[in-house]
Amino acid sequence: MKEKFNVDAPKPVIYGLLRKMEYFGFITSKWDVEGGGPARRVYKITEEGLEYLNSSLKSLRDAKKVIDLILAEDEKGGWLMDAIEAVDLQKKFGNVTAVNSVSFKVKEGEIFGFLGPNGAGKTTTIRMLTGLLKPDRGYAMIMGYNVIDEPIKAKMLVGVVPEEANPYPDLSSWDNLVLVGRLYGLSGRDIKDRASKMLKLLGLYDIMDRKAKNLSKGQRQKLLVAMALINNPKVLFLDEPTGGLDVLSARMIRELILELREMV
Ligand SMILES: Nc1ncnc2c1ncn2[C@@H]1O[C@H](COP(=O)(O)OP(=O)(O)O)[C@@H](O)[C@H]1O
Ligand SMILES: [Mg+2]
Repeated sequence: MKEKFNVDAPKPVIYGLLRKMEYFGFITSKWDVEGGGPARRVYKITEEGLEYLNSSLKSLRDAKKVIDLILAEDEKGGWLMDAIEAVDLQKKFGNVTAVNSVSFKVKEGEIFGFLGPNGAGKTTTIRMLTGLLKPDRGYAMIMGYNVIDEPIKAKMLVGVVPEEANPYPDLSSWDNLVLVGRLYGLSGRDIKDRASKMLKLLGLYDIMDRKAKNLSKGQRQKLLVAMALINNPKVLFLDEPTGGLDVLSARMIRELILELREMV
């Protein structure tokens, strides 16, 4: 028997691809008091609530136009959130223009890389995206938060493996992870859970007590990745993560990046 759809208690059903519902439209003629006639309205679901995408659509043809726009947006993955948005970023050091008007968007779940020779401005761009450096012009958004205006909110969603970085050499892998976890203000329980999980994922679990200075370069790089992941970030920045690694370790890091995408 076919169940009747109950508006007050909708049940999720999968028809083909499961998608996040972001838009919906309905005919308001029965409730509409202000508009005085039948009107078809389309709303967008946002964090704040419902946003009027299109007010009164007087005809079916109008409604169809809006639906077509929405479907086109859907095709482009427009219903996914922009994890990173860089808008016209610029940075000069004295008379050296390190970054000149860089704009791009990265969707949730997207692995995005930018290439360029030494000195092209990659590291400077990452430092602006992660709030370490204030752009001279332009701005950066992380999951909808402006990195300069809401630095804490943005930074709590970010993990970074910087180009030049080292774990504390005299601390073990475990203690390095605990230290970073404390800096993020995580609870002891969360730190332990997360640190164990990351060490297992990266194949460092059995050597968690080894001091960082006694790790190989590849192991040290993996530890840096684990440290960057301790707060379960939504966005992970890796600045030349395979630089100086042997072919196998480099491949391992690339495979790990693919695996991590499936985990968020
Ligand atoms: N703190 C700084 N002071 C002065 N110049 C800098 C500074 N950081 C970077 N630069 C210059 O900006 C340019 C871009 O550097 P960088 O972003 O590190 O490039 P990449 O990471 O692509 O190799 C280079 O010419 C570099 O010398
Ligand atoms: Mg660099």
